Amino acid sequence: DTIPASFFAQMGLSLYDNGYLNTAVCKSTISYIDGDRGILRYRGYNIEELAEHSSFIEVSYLLIYGELPTRQQLATWNARIMRHTFVHENMLEYMKSFRYDAHPMGMLVSAVAAMSTFHPEASTDLHGDQIYQDHKMINKQIFRLIGKIPTLAAIAYRHRIGRPYVYPNQELDFTGNFLFMMDRLSETTYTPNPALVRALDVIFILHADHELNCSTAAVRQLGSTGIDPYVSIAGATAALYGPSHGGANEAALKMLEEIGSVENIPAFIEQVKAKKRKLMGFGHRVYKFYDPRAKLMRKTAEEVFKIMGRNPIIDVAIELERIALSDEYFIKRNLYPNVDFYSGIIYKSMGFPTDFFPVLFAIARTTGWLAHWREQLLQGTPIFRPAQAYNGEEAREYVKMEDRV
Ligand code: ACO
Repeated sequence: DTIPASFFAQMGLSLYDNGYLNTAVCKSTISYIDGDRGILRYRGYNIEELAEHSSFIEVSYLLIYGELPTRQQLATWNARIMRHTFVHENMLEYMKSFRYDAHPMGMLVSAVAAMSTFHPEASTDLHGDQIYQDHKMINKQIFRLIGKIPTLAAIAYRHRIGRPYVYPNQELDFTGNFLFMMDRLSETTYTPNPALVRALDVIFILHADHELNCSTAAVRQLGSTGIDPYVSIAGATAALYGPSHGGANEAALKMLEEIGSVENIPAFIEQVKAKKRKLMGFGHRVYKFYDPRAKLMRKTAEEVFKIMGRNPIIDVAIELERIALSDEYFIKRNLYPNVDFYSGIIYKSMGFPTDFFPVLFAIARTTGWLAHWREQLLQGTPIFRPAQAYNGEEAREYVKMEDRV
């Protein structure tokens, strides 16, 4: 078991751990990573099995409630989420107010935060802690956030291309409806290709949770103050906006496009070994072995190419991976492809603009964020208040303006 922080406090000790690299700030039963063996499990189930047999919406249930749903539970869960896919009409006006070239992540962060004002009953500030003693209230916020975030994402996209917003289609499944709302060509007649729906559904499963990554830590940090989940999830979306978190797939895609063809790989590898460049989409803070999601991504890419045509950049990626994995430099440093190595290629092939990639990540990760929000609420938590190691000035005499030189 772990040693509680209060033990150190009583001893008058504190630990300097820059960036929380070695400090566990909560106990969790949601996802498990073994970085040395390349294992990722959600609630004990291997990611490979979930990606093969489950739908994203089923995995969302598993992450949030801890068990795979029965057929009946899944039908009810799906119906509840799909019923909450519509957003308030005023939200459309709000989205219209953004510049035509606003970044979709900026729009999403703002829109999710604005949801807080549409659902003020979710705030513990108004009702005290008692509000979330009721699981119905917890569930309602969960249905709303999982249901509405894809709608807000699609609105952000449609706003960018200057086309009317497409209302949700509850006849479709979660991912099919999202692609329906994104439709680039018509407003009502588009039927998403089932194989592309399945591919994106698998990608959503792979991105749904990853224990205490930066954005999930943000949910717990913000949630520890008792704010409503809309503001917490907006904060997490903001953390995901960062290029070191949600933006690495774009960087990996850019790098592969810059390499351009397999003949250019050896020269690029030399630059990496000379530390002039970084191999984007390689290496991971936790995985010191093949990221299991990267393997599944590569498989999914082939499925997408069957429909969209083969993107030649994939051959550069495969060859780059082959060369790197047989090179002593990368072997010694345990550098393997991570989830971002192949995802950008897939998104591009599916027609998503590059700055929309982190939005796709946010749609999927919303379920993980909510699983952590709910877990923390039921566990109870002290307000997060990390310690700092002060290394600034000692006490100094104040110098009046007229005496300063
Ligand atoms: N390319 C080349 N060399 C690398 C890479 C890389 N991508 N990653 C690490 N290294 C090297 C370092 O230069 C270092 O070499 P040295 O020992 O000679 O100094 C050694 O490997 C160890 O590197 P660290 O920085 O200590 O590894 P860390 O675990 O801290 O870094 C990180 C992990 C930040 C993800 C890093 O691998 C990286 O920057 N990768 C590229 C960006 C990327 O793909 N990010 C996405 C991560 S997945 C996600 O966020 C969803």
